Amino acid sequence: MSTYGYFDDPSREFVITRPDTPLPWLNYLGQDDFFGLCTQTAGGYSFWKDARMRRITRYRYNNNPMDNDGRFLYVKQGKSVWNPGWKPVRTKLDAFECRHGLGYTRITSRKDGIEVGQLMFIPPDENLEVWKVSVRNRARRTQRLTLFSFVEFCFYEALNDMTNYQRTYSIGEVEIEGSAIYHKTEYRERRNHYALFGCTRRIDGYDTSRDAFVGVHHGLHDPQAVLAGKCSNSRAYGWNPCGAHQINLTLKPGQEETFAFILAYVDQGDLPKFDAPFVLNKTRGREILAKYSDLATIDAAFAAVRERWESLLSAYQSPDAPDQHLRRMVNTWNQVQCMATFNLSRSTSGYETGIGRGMGYRDSNQDILGFVHLLPDRARQRILDIASTQLSDGTCFHQYQPLTKKGNADIGGGFNDDPLWLILSTCAYIRETGDTTILEAPCGYADKPGSTDSLLHHIETSITYTLNNRGPHGLPLIGHADWNDCLNLNCFSKEPNESFQTVGDIAGSKAESVMIAGLFLYVARDLAALYRFLGSETDATRVNANYADMLKTVEEQAWDGAWYTRAFDAAGNPVGSKVCEEGKVYIESQAWCVLGGAGQANGRAKKALQAVEKFLYRRDLGCALQYPPYSTYRLELGEVSSYPPGYKENAGVFSHNNTWIHIGWTLFGDGDRALEYYLSICPSAKKDHDVYRSEPYVYAQMTASQFSPTPGEAKNSWLTGTGAWSFVVASQFILGVQPDFSGLRIDPCVPKKWKSFTVQRRYRGVTYTIEVKNPRGRSKGIKSLVVDGVKIDDNVIPLPTDGRTAVRVEAVLGR
Ligand code: GLC
Ligand code: GLC
Repeated sequence: MSTYGYFDDPSREFVITRPDTPLPWLNYLGQDDFFGLCTQTAGGYSFWKDARMRRITRYRYNNNPMDNDGRFLYVKQGKSVWNPGWKPVRTKLDAFECRHGLGYTRITSRKDGIEVGQLMFIPPDENLEVWKVSVRNRARRTQRLTLFSFVEFCFYEALNDMTNYQRTYSIGEVEIEGSAIYHKTEYRERRNHYALFGCTRRIDGYDTSRDAFVGVHHGLHDPQAVLAGKCSNSRAYGWNPCGAHQINLTLKPGQEETFAFILAYVDQGDLPKFDAPFVLNKTRGREILAKYSDLATIDAAFAAVRERWESLLSAYQSPDAPDQHLRRMVNTWNQVQCMATFNLSRSTSGYETGIGRGMGYRDSNQDILGFVHLLPDRARQRILDIASTQLSDGTCFHQYQPLTKKGNADIGGGFNDDPLWLILSTCAYIRETGDTTILEAPCGYADKPGSTDSLLHHIETSITYTLNNRGPHGLPLIGHADWNDCLNLNCFSKEPNESFQTVGDIAGSKAESVMIAGLFLYVARDLAALYRFLGSETDATRVNANYADMLKTVEEQAWDGAWYTRAFDAAGNPVGSKVCEEGKVYIESQAWCVLGGAGQANGRAKKALQAVEKFLYRRDLGCALQYPPYSTYRLELGEVSSYPPGYKENAGVFSHNNTWIHIGWTLFGDGDRALEYYLSICPSAKKDHDVYRSEPYVYAQMTASQFSPTPGEAKNSWLTGTGAWSFVVASQFILGVQPDFSGLRIDPCVPKKWKSFTVQRRYRGVTYTIEVKNPRGRSKGIKSLVVDGVKIDDNVIPLPTDGRTAVRVEAVLGR
């Protein structure tokens, strides 16, 4: 238990015990089309599918106070005004608790004998959110109070909403019917959808004009209507529509009232748009409110949220993994984060505004690695969507918009690692499902609309692209950047208003990436294995030859003496080499050369990992991205040298790339180091939350490193490739249950002192219960594997051919 909260593992909840956490601690609601961001103070907003194009409630990023818009309830009791979530009024509460659970957040607070519970969730497959509210009188006397709800509507297109006031101040339109507030801005013109904010209880008033409810010179911390104790039944016409309900309550001692607010996004479909001029056809809205008017329906919907998660998570559980941090991450929180990164890529969080970055090509491919076991069909569709943003020459749109699935032209392409990640995600999908039909699934190229090439064609195009775009050392050209978005070797920007990501002429450039070479080695092995599985020996042999060729190049050109060089800049000078003054050792080339199988025969792989340990690793922080940090801006390197030392790509601890090193140690059978490194970045293992500041239950993109003045401070939580990769580390490489083309491979790598553990894995319709025993205190290697009583020689469990749906496996470590 820390100052701010604790894990309630059996309930799969993180419990926050005071509202003033060091940063807002976020949770996500929803996992289909309707989503909400919700912090411990009920801050956040909701959107449908796309946080830029269909934002339903308004949110001001980088606000001060931070996180000051949300799903607010106000209680007015005598003179006192308070929020159950503490913000925005910030009246001191007598008790506060926030439980972030799987797809829901429940806040319970008490003040002057009144207890309010606010449970927020999005029912499965619905385009709406529910706030179930209960108000209870815990005092010995009858109490009177007024409760207000409040949301501020967004005009759907979030960027326009916060920049174009000459228009937006004059477009707002609403209708009111009973307790239901219909937000119908732009509905008369091209929109066929509206938002709805209703209440299941009779109301005593409402407001739909923000100026009326809040007041022009007031703030959300002292809204006029709440101070006055009543709404004015305002009807917004232009300016800023909001939704506020007023409910007067008189509660006897012990009495409780429970009701709910419903916030919905309604697509009119092919219903007639209007009942009469200016009168919205409210059929769908009324149906929604009727359906949820009943508390039993609401409780059933909440139960469905929880059941859905339990069923998803049962695809991978290790109830007795000996390390509690790894256990709770693997069993619950890491999988929850994988769901969020899959759904939202890098688009919307406390740090991503939902406007700038949509779905990332490389990001979303990697996100699939940690998600595919949860909902393989959705992973399949995503892979095909991503592939369709590739161009026929092999380059890819770096990002695309979730609503349109079209590549973002303003960022474009030219990140030369992008094409290769598609092979990782595709192989992961086939390893999980055995479904090779995906390879023939039609997915055209973005520059050939209407064409129908296959996914396999995209994969071959990607391989060819890398092979054909190599520089003077025979290594792959980097383009605008590789995985390290900030290694901009062709940018040479002197102009502060330019984007490092897009500026610079990459045509004809010589700058090369060793990291892409390592990644190529990795995917070539994956692809050769896939071809062998498909029975296509010729293709496997061809890809193996490509592998051998790239491996030779890496060993001849990229070994720096004690580690792998990171890149060669546009002038052909090494980056990440002993000859560099700063940025001598980088993490990514060590990681990918090792994962790609370089340095195996000659001992270099081990040396590369040792260099990481020596120069980059700190047990309490993780591994910095490189060493030493750049102290000055380097024109020839770009954004990597733009950050102050110890932050972000300039030698911060960038959690994502740490996970590859963790896998590296497992390949060497060093289970003690693998777990120690795993814990070095594990949020659950962070002890001092005043230093760490970010959520203890999900990974953050970056932690300030030993090279900064604030080591250990994390930033940019939730939407990071660390989610997927750390799940891969823990589930596949430490606990060692690895999906392979022809079955589950068992190959754990654990600390020597671990005695035993169990993994329950649902895989291709079969539930495996895998018991791993370690009587000899080893880290790696299978001495024996017994499957349903039958000893087998290999460590891949054959798929049952007799229709069994439950299989018991006993594995003993030690060779
Ligand atoms: C961010 C980006 C990712 C990139 C990484 C390193 O996480 O989303 O695409 O690889 O930064 O620069
Ligand atoms: C990635 C990097 C970040 C960089 C950004 C550019 O997110 O982590 O440092 O500024 O890409 O889009």
